[in-house]
Amino acid sequence: MKVTVIGTGYVGLVTGACLSEMGNHVLCLDIDPAKIRILKEGGIPIHEPGLLEVVQRNVQAGRLEFTTDVDHAVAHGTIQFIAVGTPPDEDGSADLQYVVSAARSIGQRMTDFKVVVDKSTVPVGTGDKVKAAIADELAKRRMTLDFAVCSNPEFLKEGAAVQDFMRPDRVVVGAEDERAILLMRALYAPFVRNRDRMMVMDIRSAEFTKYAANAMLATRISFMNELSRLAERVGADIELVRQGIGSDPRIGTHFLYPGVGYGGSCFPKDVKALAKTSADAGLPSRILTAVEAVNEDQKMVLVNKVVTRYGEDLSGRTFAIWGLAFKPNTDDMREAPSLVIIRALLARGARVQVYDPVAIDEAKRQLVDVEEAVNEASSAQAAVSGADALLIVTEWKEFRTPDFEHLAASLKDKIVFDGRNLYEPALIRSFGLEYHAIGRP
Ligand code: UDX
Repeated sequence: MKVTVIGTGYVGLVTGACLSEMGNHVLCLDIDPAKIRILKEGGIPIHEPGLLEVVQRNVQAGRLEFTTDVDHAVAHGTIQFIAVGTPPDEDGSADLQYVVSAARSIGQRMTDFKVVVDKSTVPVGTGDKVKAAIADELAKRRMTLDFAVCSNPEFLKEGAAVQDFMRPDRVVVGAEDERAILLMRALYAPFVRNRDRMMVMDIRSAEFTKYAANAMLATRISFMNELSRLAERVGADIELVRQGIGSDPRIGTHFLYPGVGYGGSCFPKDVKALAKTSADAGLPSRILTAVEAVNEDQKMVLVNKVVTRYGEDLSGRTFAIWGLAFKPNTDDMREAPSLVIIRALLARGARVQVYDPVAIDEAKRQLVDVEEAVNEASSAQAAVSGADALLIVTEWKEFRTPDFEHLAASLKDKIVFDGRNLYEPALIRSFGLEYHAIGRP
């Protein structure tokens, strides 16, 4: 099939690449010439395991192409995916200007039947706005062309995006037009083979499903984070509690890890947007407001531990930070708790020595205003050298079994503040290190 993907961010690029892998002829459009240049030169503008290989293979086979030319893009695909950004507005609601303008571009140029698919995370009712924008552009051209609008929310996780797309738990499609349903079923059939995981529903329910999923997951995390604080207070170990509750299949083991708060491009934005939707609908969500508030507090949990240990004034002290990205296997720094932690330490007079396997450049961009107090280290070992204490912020695999002897020898105060509960407390303490974790005695 001929497919156009508008927007080559995380979702758009992964969608385009993975659809081309199944034999579709995919053209990806972006208005950012720098991104398209990187893609045309055989690179990718983000760090995502396995994606470069899929992109290169399909570019070579001629099935995956990139362009900044809107005319070319609209002419190409019968199916037109809209995968542009929906950044939060000032009031927390999703800003739909890029989605609507993509829809208008299609309406201004289409000459035959198109299925226009919202892949961006968009609030309930956006399908109608997209439909209206296209119809409006067609009316301006005095044309009556057939088109269908679908919602097809994306559930991929950064760091595992290719795998999530190739083997999805489910594919949710909101569609009301019979032809569109047939085409979407055909497009996704190779990904859900042997497993009937295609769910076709009305557009509003599909749009809602994405927010409901992310809000549910964010709620789990905030709830676990709140429990971890309580566990600490009453002398229980949240890691044992986590195993104790996770073994109940109604609860399950996934997404029960307390930490330094959730970050990323989805949870913070989607929780805010759903809270706004619920307020606008006259049913303000008490739970979502709490989920957000708990998460904001949680980003300060490690800093609070540092302050409890060292006092408010941290001048003259240097802290090593392991991990900057909001989670492992990505260079994404959007809403990363590390930024809040670093700024809070600097505000108290400390300096930091930071290390991340891939997110360092992105982090430096976000911290240019304080760069003189931020030392970038080329390895985890280099980061701890000469530091007073270590803070672990992202659970990269390479931090899981460090050389504890080297750590004890390098850290002046031999203290580790672990925001991800990576170590067995008794083990790390046996090396003479003082260990502070999340929700553990
Ligand atoms: C999320 C959803 O999982 C995905 O389905 C959706 O399409 C986009 O949003 P992503 O943001 O890539 O994906 O990351 P995810 O792995 O879900 O982690 C989100 C945040 O929650 C991270 O900051 C992570 O550190 C945190 N988290 C996750 C926890 O603190 N504890 C957990 O148990 C799980």
